[in-house]
Amino acid sequence: MRMYDIIAKKRDGRELTKEEIDFFIKGYVSGSIPDYQVSALLMAIYIKGLNKRETADLTISMANSGDMVDLSAIPGIKVDKHSTGGVGDTTTLITAPLVAACGVPVVKMSGRGLGHTGGTIDKLEAIPGFNVNLSIDHFTSIVNRIGLAVMSQTQNLVPADKLLYALRDVTATVESMPLIASSIMSKKIAAGADAIVLDVKAGSGAFMQNIDDAFMLAKEMVDIGNSVGRKTTAIVTDMNQPLGLAVGNALEVREAVDVLKGRVTGRLRDVSVLLAAYMLYTAGKCGTVDEARRLAENALISGQGARKLKEMIRAQGGDERIVEDTSLLPQPRKIIPFKADREGYISTIKTQEIGISAQLLGAGRTTKEDSIDPAVGIVMNKQLGDYVNKGDTIAEFYVNEEGRLAEALDIFHGAVSITSEKPERKPLVYGVVTSDKIERWQ
Ligand code: URA
Ligand code: CA
Repeated sequence: MRMYDIIAKKRDGRELTKEEIDFFIKGYVSGSIPDYQVSALLMAIYIKGLNKRETADLTISMANSGDMVDLSAIPGIKVDKHSTGGVGDTTTLITAPLVAACGVPVVKMSGRGLGHTGGTIDKLEAIPGFNVNLSIDHFTSIVNRIGLAVMSQTQNLVPADKLLYALRDVTATVESMPLIASSIMSKKIAAGADAIVLDVKAGSGAFMQNIDDAFMLAKEMVDIGNSVGRKTTAIVTDMNQPLGLAVGNALEVREAVDVLKGRVTGRLRDVSVLLAAYMLYTAGKCGTVDEARRLAENALISGQGARKLKEMIRAQGGDERIVEDTSLLPQPRKIIPFKADREGYISTIKTQEIGISAQLLGAGRTTKEDSIDPAVGIVMNKQLGDYVNKGDTIAEFYVNEEGRLAEALDIFHGAVSITSEKPERKPLVYGVVTSDKIERWQ
């Protein structure tokens, strides 16, 4: 078999066999196939696509390129969740404790921020002492004791994805449906959960900006998961503005605590409860989604979710007092208001730019070697559709280093538009994809 022929075949729009896909993944991971040939194949895939069978085969080849985590030491159906990547998207810190409080074990392997999107691992590390680097044995023992744990992906989890992702990032081939689906699902399958709930984002801050594309991606991933015996469900949610008000690591932890403590309502809370409901339902805890939603809401209102978060922080070495006193989280030197320069309605928020603006303050990495400042970021005071007067504070910038502050403010300024007409309301949830159907709610 020759890589050259595989590239030519896909270039001409023909279907690759399982053996060809396996050959390319194994060859790339072992180093026998060079970057330039893989780059050419990625671009051919980006342009010509992969069919369902090819995408599933690619996912399995990728999953098999490293560790396949065995969680059989944890009894029962274990559930994991994954977001395709957003801004101000702190749902894991809320849903995981809610689901665990309802008695379903949550086994979550997370990543770090990617591009303009935040990552759960970076957020958890904003909690003083919190340890995300667990061995599988330690992870298993924590889940068996308290019902949940969140750890950083093991070093050898899907090495094929690490290589491919880095290459896609520099060859303009990130936004390809089969490449995104196989990237995400290979990691979820290798991470060992029995049930998987996906939060597929659509809008200006998401990898999929178009809603129909987001549903197609959701369907693709749900089919892959179910075809390998993992019960998989997806919800498609709006990312035309940050999901929560906070964008930044300690700030998002604080907001998650505020939601679990009942101090904050709104979009982040609603999506988190819905995700928790689908996790309970997909894991077979409840016969209907409505029942699952009541269970999740009860766990929130009763404070059980907040208590579970505290238990998790303690079990992973963190300072659990932050749940009672969020001022113990890292604090910035300065808080700078960003004020409206005219009156009108907030009509669009270029969400990706909000993520980039926060990244420039130090909330995310701009190069692989960058370190993150947990204290910094942006808190939105206004959301889409809100009316502002000239001089009203639209957002607050939490700042330590001021080196790129001007640039961050400038990008933010370009990202928020104010118009005299009230914009149409955007839905929060577009629908749900299960193994047997696609439900469009909007
Ligand atoms: N998240 C991933 O893990 N992979 C992608 O390709 C896109 C988002
Ligand atoms: Ca993420």
